[in-house]
Amino acid sequence: MGFLARYTKTEPASLPPTPSCDDHDEPTPRQTEGPYFKPASPERSSLLQPGLNGTKLILAGQVLNTDCQPVAKALLDWWHCDSEGNYDNDGYTLRGHQYTDKQGNFRLETIVPGLYPGRTRHIHVKVQAPGQPVLTTQLYFPEEAQNQGDGIFNEVLVMKTQKKADYLGAGYTFVLKA
Ligand SMILES: [Fe+2]
Repeated sequence: MGFLARYTKTEPASLPPTPSCDDHDEPTPRQTEGPYFKPASPERSSLLQPGLNGTKLILAGQVLNTDCQPVAKALLDWWHCDSEGNYDNDGYTLRGHQYTDKQGNFRLETIVPGLYPGRTRHIHVKVQAPGQPVLTTQLYFPEEAQNQGDGIFNEVLVMKTQKKADYLGAGYTFVLKA
């Protein structure tokens, strides 16, 4: 069922229009956590630190619910490998969590992760609205040769990216069950 049909049936007419929301009427799919999650990551919006190699990545986006309302104070807990394909399992390099603002927006500064055997390029994340279940998933890069050979790759989880002079810009909208 399309979003507009559901909107008309279930919501009062007084709600503001949500023109982009018909793209987002299904919740973001969950994916395996994988073996490298570590709890208790530091709270920060930049994972950049001296000594990290790789292309800078600025990932910005929004957390919405399935009624297309922004989710404020949603937790986003990120982890990914370095440009060589290695996770920091001893410390917290390239791991961190943050919260969305009142409009459900977030912005993360990090680097483009490398590749490691068996997987295409990806970023792990746990997303949680206050008091709600955790969504564990992964984000992917467009035009990545390895995407089609990765058994769990999902087109719906591909970020929109834009090459800038000195970084890669990326965007993604998460949708959580209302
Ligand atoms: Fe991974």
